[in-house]
Amino acid sequence: MILIAGPSANGISERIAELRGEKSYSTAHKVFPDGESYIKIPHEIAGEDIAIIQSTNTPQDKSLMELFFMIDKARNMGAKSITAIVPYMGYMRQNKEFNEGEAVSISTIISILNSLQLDNLITIQPHKSGPLRAFKGKTAIVDVTGKMAVYAGAGMRNPLVLAPDKGALEIARKAAASIGCAYTYIDKERLNDTKVSIKHSPSESMKGNDVMIIDDMISTGGTIVQAAEFAKSRGAENVRVAAVHLIMAGNAEEKLRNAGISEICGTNTLPFRGTKTFDISEEIAKSLDEIKSE
Ligand code: R5P
Repeated sequence: MILIAGPSANGISERIAELRGEKSYSTAHKVFPDGESYIKIPHEIAGEDIAIIQSTNTPQDKSLMELFFMIDKARNMGAKSITAIVPYMGYMRQNKEFNEGEAVSISTIISILNSLQLDNLITIQPHKSGPLRAFKGKTAIVDVTGKMAVYAGAGMRNPLVLAPDKGALEIARKAAASIGCAYTYIDKERLNDTKVSIKHSPSESMKGNDVMIIDDMISTGGTIVQAAEFAKSRGAENVRVAAVHLIMAGNAEEKLRNAGISEICGTNTLPFRGTKTFDISEEIAKSLDEIKSE
């Protein structure tokens, strides 16, 4: 297999290639003065199995267009099979028509991948996995919760895992099981794109606990800030956060720091680096084997 690192590979391609004893090539890439992307696959790939690595870094639309260009070109160059590794798949939160007339963005993206005849898709913990069922090729969803939580939780005293909303209950349960501690949750109500409020909260005290708030992603930071303030109000000693996808839109990092969060832990699905970064390369290298042998 040949690995092709797109402009939003976030540095993981070389490590995956090293782990698998394969070659990795970076695409030649530039952005024209008018904002359009130029992509060139720099190696002969006719008859080869190839894996294109491209996350949906911000701006997500640009990263996606570049992914489409690379898949299409690889097909035209005669690749035998094409696997897209998209560590963070954007638009997963617009997975249904919440209000009449809204575009179901992720459905459009999957339709494009189908029309490009992509063979395999590997992604890390999408916000919802349902929309991926429309993908006609093989899909592998990599779950790094347990390993990330153990890595992020090193040094915690009397740990407690806190899900900042009901949707994060499952990730909190897995994280707590891996760390070997208890978990609880609060439930939120979204007021607008950046503001949330608490709908349900646990009654127990968190006095004497180091609390890890865990979620699949941090976007504006509003969800985590509210959970951190809640944990502190219940007496938590230290509050840290672990999330798979650190989108960190706008001043999210500053908001988290101002809320007294001691550590921001995540993975390298996206460019933001917090205080601790769990490297997803090994998990992806394994899933490449699995998807090929299915
Ligand atoms: C939504 O339910 C997700 O799991 C995250 O909780 C949410 O996207 C975080 O967004 P923000 O950081 O903007 O509060």
